[in-house]
Amino acid sequence: MGKKDDAEQPQTGSDTGTKLPGMFSRYKSSVEQGLHNAVPGGENSEAYRLLRYHLGWVDQEGGPMDTALTQGKALRPTLCLFACNALADDYSKAVPAAAAVELIHNFSLVHDDIQDQDVERRHQPTVWHLWGVPKALWSGNAMQCAGDLSLLNADAQDVSPATVLQVSQILTEAYLEMIQGQCLDLNFESRTDIKPNEYLYMIACKTGALIRSALQIGALLATEDQAAMKAFAEFGNHLGQAFQIRDDYLGIWGDQATLGKATDSDIRRRKKSYPVVFALEKASGRAMEDLLRIYEQEELEEDDVQRVMAVLDEVGSRENSQRLTEAAAARALEALKPVSLPRWAQNEAEELVDFLARREY
Ligand code: IPE
Ligand code: IPE
Ligand code: MG
Ligand code: MG
Repeated sequence: MGKKDDAEQPQTGSDTGTKLPGMFSRYKSSVEQGLHNAVPGGENSEAYRLLRYHLGWVDQEGGPMDTALTQGKALRPTLCLFACNALADDYSKAVPAAAAVELIHNFSLVHDDIQDQDVERRHQPTVWHLWGVPKALWSGNAMQCAGDLSLLNADAQDVSPATVLQVSQILTEAYLEMIQGQCLDLNFESRTDIKPNEYLYMIACKTGALIRSALQIGALLATEDQAAMKAFAEFGNHLGQAFQIRDDYLGIWGDQATLGKATDSDIRRRKKSYPVVFALEKASGRAMEDLLRIYEQEELEEDDVQRVMAVLDEVGSRENSQRLTEAAAARALEALKPVSLPRWAQNEAEELVDFLARREY
């Protein structure tokens, strides 16, 4: 199954940015099992249909879909199972929690597409775009409930109730942080005075917290070694930063057909993604005047988007964003150094970091 689905991912063979690393295929069937347990398919209810549509399992009418293009990469559950596997070998007890993290991520995406007014994700129309905002709101909420419940199922995997409670606390705190990050992201749209540090704090909340929690949970279910848990948490923080800055880059310079979502909407929505924050720091003279004039408007036209792109080029935003991604990726690997991981895990961590810094989707 892993092989067939891998073949459907957009890829050009040798390019590390378009082919998911091997780590993803090892945990793929466990992640799918965990998700299917958490989002049952038997019900003929509309609620479940919208969830299953967003997850890429069924089409708009509820008919079966079998293409990896409409499904997520499953980065967060993969990280969760990897942490558990690297520290304790047996990762089966982390499967319900890994699925929970992925469902919380999907809850955030359903709501994020409403907030960002994005009409395409994973090569498909978004839930709110098809069914309207009210239904998208409850389907996001239902996704969150399915995630919370999945986590409680860890109980059935020989995880003690006290540990389940700890895992639940880590995950809930992380997604509360994520919501705070989303709140900042939206507030930043109407501002032009965002400093790089404010931006970094915003992405640590909106993206870093959940990625970190996936690794923390995987580690917690594997070991009581506090130093190892701390190292995996730090690994997650840096990985989250690298991941979101690369996401910002792809949101401007990515290839829409590969990405499966729009590449002009971040600028159009006045998002203070890293390339724009950098340009607002660096631009001067006419370029700065143009940026400030453009960002004063509530709606940006195609000409405005083109002018912003030209300023980003002028000040070197593209190169600088990629440099920052790669610096964060290098720090992620540094953070893992204190833990003595088996050689395979060390190699896979390196391969993963390399992919995340250069991914094309
Ligand atoms: C997209 O995350 C949202 C961000 C946090 C940047 P992913 O790129 O992990 O989304 P999927 O699940 O693979 O579609
Ligand atoms: C990522 O949001 C963070 C969350 C969804 C919590 P973005 O708005 O930056 O990500 P995309 O580009 O829509 O996937
Ligand atoms: Mg957003
Ligand atoms: Mg978005």
